[in-house]
Amino acid sequence: MTTMNHDISGASGVEAGADEETATPILDVRGLTVHFPIKKGFLSRTVGHVRAVDGIDLSVRAGETLGIVGESGCGKTTLGRSVARVIEPTAGQIVYRDTAGRNVDLAELNARRLRPYQRQIRVVFQDPFSSLNPRMTLRQIVGEPLRTSGTVTGSELDDRVASMLERVGLSPKYMNRYPHAFSGGERQRVNIARALVLGPRVVIADEPVSALDVSVRAQILNLLRDLQEELKLTYLFVSHDLSVVENICDRVAVMYLGKIVEVAGTADLYAQPRHPYTEALLSAVPRPDPRLRGAGRRIRLADDLPDPANPPPGCYFHTRCPYAVPGVCDVAERAPLLTSSGSGHRVAACVRSDELGLAGVGSEVGGP
Ligand SMILES: Nc1ncnc2c1ncn2[C@@H]1O[C@H](COP(=O)(O)OP(=O)(O)OP(=O)(O)O)[C@@H](O)[C@H]1O
Ligand SMILES: [Mg+2]
Repeated sequence: MTTMNHDISGASGVEAGADEETATPILDVRGLTVHFPIKKGFLSRTVGHVRAVDGIDLSVRAGETLGIVGESGCGKTTLGRSVARVIEPTAGQIVYRDTAGRNVDLAELNARRLRPYQRQIRVVFQDPFSSLNPRMTLRQIVGEPLRTSGTVTGSELDDRVASMLERVGLSPKYMNRYPHAFSGGERQRVNIARALVLGPRVVIADEPVSALDVSVRAQILNLLRDLQEELKLTYLFVSHDLSVVENICDRVAVMYLGKIVEVAGTADLYAQPRHPYTEALLSAVPRPDPRLRGAGRRIRLADDLPDPANPPPGCYFHTRCPYAVPGVCDVAERAPLLTSSGSGHRVAACVRSDELGLAGVGSEVGGP
């Protein structure tokens, strides 16, 4: 379908044949912005906007798992959903490299032209309990994307659903049962089957294990890992749980108030954070072994997350940052913005990144 593509090759700014650090991105998000209108009064007049995603640049490499972390309300879900265009972006580009190696800006496609790409980028929604329709059987839930895409019908559809269920570790003999008959872990398997049944290349997993018991988490994470290898998937892994992210992600992007404040390889980020917000998040990661606890002190952030409809001037984090310099961090012209997240280089939006020597945590993955 060549006519459907807007070839904007070269827009990624990444050299072909570059080393692992700068591998070609499958997704290159630029200036992505999602503002939700705040409506008030009898006439529902718009009185402001929640800046849920506030001008994000982010590259996702083919085959990697990129974690998105940050406090509740920082915009992780909105970012993930807008990349898949489940939520409409207000502005920005979502450059997707298709199977033929062409770059397509998904943000500018109309619904009809977007459809083939929506099969390639799927979302596993946040809560396996509320995201499955209780009045639909597993056959209907997992088969729905196939039916609406109109590509498969009848017994072929049943076969596809059955083999997908098997792949996620569920017996096809349960196809006619309803979600209430299943445990949280099994429902999340159904959720994953529904996201994968169209054969996507990119999966946006929104807190895929947060609602599950600890004992079930490892099983679902292992399943996600196996499926990634088997189906050559790229994951955008949204989570507020830094222990889970450490386990499954190759790189991590840290989000604060609709912006990315730091991006780095997982081991690098955990050992040596370069943004004070990352340091504060990491200080809460449990480490039973005291040798791995970094500076060993828990940094307690004041509970006053600024209003995302009215963010502070300069660095958004300066109102809670223990290292903020008055006259610098609170001045828009002087606080750095994360203008380029590259596709691998570590970057942090902090004027003091180089001088602070922030504390990270030792690695538990693969032993101390
Ligand atoms: N449909 C909407 N209309 C208005 N505001 C919204 C809407 N969806 C999200 N928001 C707001 O946008 C901001 C980001 O929300 P989002 O759900 O993306 O955060 P999150 O990081 O996923 O949080 P959590 O960790 O709790 O899931 C919040 O301030 C939220 O209240
Ligand atoms: Mg969320």
